[in-house]
Amino acid sequence: EKDGHDWFMRKEIFEQPRAVADSLLGRRGEDGLLQLDEMRLSDQDLRDIDKIIIIAAGTSFYAGMVAKYAIEHWCRIPVEVELASEFRYRDPILTSDTLVVAISQSGETADTLQAIRHARVQRSKVLAICNTNGSTIPRESDGVIYTHAGPEIGVASTKGFLTQLVACYLLALYLAQVKGTRFGDEISQVMDQLEQMPGHVQTVLDKADEVYALARDHVDSRSVLFLGRHAGYPVALEGALKLKEIAYLHAEGFAAGELKHGPIALVEEGLPILCVVPPRGRDQLHDKMISGIQEVRARGARTLCLAEEGDTTIEPYADVLFTLPQVPVLLQPLVAVVPLQLFACELASQLGHDVDQPRNLAKSVTVE
Ligand code: M6R
Repeated sequence: EKDGHDWFMRKEIFEQPRAVADSLLGRRGEDGLLQLDEMRLSDQDLRDIDKIIIIAAGTSFYAGMVAKYAIEHWCRIPVEVELASEFRYRDPILTSDTLVVAISQSGETADTLQAIRHARVQRSKVLAICNTNGSTIPRESDGVIYTHAGPEIGVASTKGFLTQLVACYLLALYLAQVKGTRFGDEISQVMDQLEQMPGHVQTVLDKADEVYALARDHVDSRSVLFLGRHAGYPVALEGALKLKEIAYLHAEGFAAGELKHGPIALVEEGLPILCVVPPRGRDQLHDKMISGIQEVRARGARTLCLAEEGDTTIEPYADVLFTLPQVPVLLQPLVAVVPLQLFACELASQLGHDVDQPRNLAKSVTVE
């Protein structure tokens, strides 16, 4: 049942190329336009949307953070991302032109469910991104985009996360198509890039042994930090959450630009810091990240860097370098998170923990 793997989590990590491919299947019509079958909101409803609020918990929240970068960039609609548990109790401003997007793998998370109930009472439209057919959250929403990860058994979400990212990109591109904020050929170009992602995820998985060796080097670590910028920031947060959940290790993710506003004080000799380096591009994102890495290294940190193939600028500052396939910055989370999942899985396994059923946690959290 685990396909020869020791843990469901590991099996699910290796299923990701298939899960991503399945989540992309059948989204392009014969006319070349994107179609989201389970989207029960009309194009007119979507054109009227003037604000999007994404609500979710845990890993799904981090998928929502990536979605914000994509939707604002491609569709020019303001997006807020909020933890479901906070949203519900703060009297949020909601109108009938607000689209609330609830992201939930299980479709049963109580915090998220209460949040959408609240949004619907305020007459906002609710769209669910969900992996579980017929679960409560999609049933109580106006529309749903189903991810096609297949059942996720491990408590730590992996393929659930990757397929949520795919659904978020599809939603962003669909809104861009409906609102006309992007030309059709630009949208199909991104779709082409998305369709190459299963192959890129596989390339990362083929190097799992490199990550396992790194994990084994860190079984005695007491704390691991994660740094990212832009779409790499939620990846850093997710990498840290994985490590907390299953390895019971102190781990924290930071936006690299925030280092000098406090966290750099934590850096001491030998502290491992996993750095998600953005692809080289026309903006300064990449170079700013490199200078952040230089700074922590100068203070004794051991820098474990994930950077795209061919990026030689990082070499002098990386104690360990793991290369990622070259992909656009907005899509990079799909490949960058995979080594972090493998890292946490292997580390937890080496420590002798129950990787699939970590202490104190449940797969779906049905109490608020
Ligand atoms: O089923 P949901 O996506 O609504 O679950 C949300 C969180 O409980 C979930 O992502 C949790 O953080 C995972 N254990 C993360 O690995």
